[in-house]
Amino acid sequence: MAQSTSTEKTSAGPNTVTLTDNSTGRSWELPILEGNEGPRVIDVRGLYNDTGFFTYDPGFGATASCDSAITFIDGEKGILRHGGYAIEDLAEHSSYMEVCYLLLQGELPTRAQRKEFESTITYHTMLHEQMLNFYRGFRRDSHPMSIMVAVVGALSAFYHDSTDISDPYQRMVASHRLIAKMPTIAAMAYKYSVGQPFVYPRNDLKYAENFLYMTFSVPCEDFKIRPALARAMDRIFILHADHEQNASTSTVRIAGSSGANPFACIAAGIASLWGPAHGGANEAVLQMLQEIGSKDRIPEFIQRAKDKDDPFRLMGFGHRVYKNYDPRAAVLRKSCHEVLDDLGKRDEPLLDLAMELERIALEDDYFAEKKLFPNVDFYSGIILQAMGFPTTMFTVLFALARTVGWVAQWKEMVEDPHHRISRPRQLYTGHPKRDFVPIDQRG
Ligand code: ACO
Repeated sequence: MAQSTSTEKTSAGPNTVTLTDNSTGRSWELPILEGNEGPRVIDVRGLYNDTGFFTYDPGFGATASCDSAITFIDGEKGILRHGGYAIEDLAEHSSYMEVCYLLLQGELPTRAQRKEFESTITYHTMLHEQMLNFYRGFRRDSHPMSIMVAVVGALSAFYHDSTDISDPYQRMVASHRLIAKMPTIAAMAYKYSVGQPFVYPRNDLKYAENFLYMTFSVPCEDFKIRPALARAMDRIFILHADHEQNASTSTVRIAGSSGANPFACIAAGIASLWGPAHGGANEAVLQMLQEIGSKDRIPEFIQRAKDKDDPFRLMGFGHRVYKNYDPRAAVLRKSCHEVLDDLGKRDEPLLDLAMELERIALEDDYFAEKKLFPNVDFYSGIILQAMGFPTTMFTVLFALARTVGWVAQWKEMVEDPHHRISRPRQLYTGHPKRDFVPIDQRG
């Protein structure tokens, strides 16, 4: 998209908005840009040069930071689509590998393309053997997300042949490596924390199967993969694969805008995802459900969530973009029942508690007025716990699945000939200029 600028007002057109400075009476025409769907945007790129104003939008609630063809969200209607395909259809009929291909290439693969892509990803699943030494330097009780940030960032020290971002081939190899190695890195973080030997990848297994195998198998026993669990794992990966310009993806883009290598950028994304307001919420949901403990205590916690003087929030509820039911939460709610049935845990008390909490919250005026609905994290923790993952691994799984989204968005940015370093401005609220005071005169 060509750089455009605002212009001093001559006449208002249908594709412009008029900005008027009431203190001087000066007006400027600002172009309106239209995407294929979603709100129109006011192009303020030339604003500062033409008018001397910055825009002010902390938290970026009304700012489109880029144009992107990867993912579309309509938060009012609860719609999420990748490449035009509804998330519900992808979760039901596709596979994570297909969705990875879709996010990277913009199209679903043909049968031959899928086979080739799967075999390429499989080819890169192993880690450089020396990287295993990194794990051994960590305390056993390290949070696995801290290990993820470190090990993923360290990939750049091992794969020099895929860090030149100006080379399309190296960009592609780095993308494949990140997607392929993430399950191995994540499973090893888990193995280290429980004191079990690392399990090497098995390339005869599908992506999700291989991850479950590396996580839960031990050398002294046969390991049988339960197809229902592998399918549920794959579906969880699909549901977390991308979510347009969220905090961690924007972090990846900002890190990448300076020309940093992709491994460093994805490590930055993992750090951003870790926070409880973002990917860390699935861990926080489980902790909250355990703290609530029983249905009769739900009203007490709902009351706390509504109390302005109490920092407590209902974790897994609310979303910056969705002002309706998060479509991913709806799929996971259904999946939750299937997984628990398969594991013979139909009467799992935490699911019962979560559903009752959801019911009471959705009937409450506070949550209705603020349009707070369950988000993707509300049900994912219950499934993951039932599958045997400790809570500290929940966000790791999110990072694993989101890697393809980060990579696709990073690639899209690097390949955009108009991309520039991301450098926001500020509204300065500090001291005006003042004279330096020598220390013996400071009182
Ligand atoms: N419980 C109680 N009140 C809430 C909640 C909640 N979970 N979420 C938002 N609110 C209230 C706020 O107090 C605020 O009220 P006010 O207008 O009276 O001040 C209003 O709703 C708007 O909240 P904001 O924090 O301004 O909304 P924002 O868009 O900045 O935050 C967020 C979105 C961070 C997701 C928030 O809803 C939240 O903290 N939720 C709990 C954490 C969570 O589940 N995060 C996962 C998000 S999904 C993901 O990252 C995968």
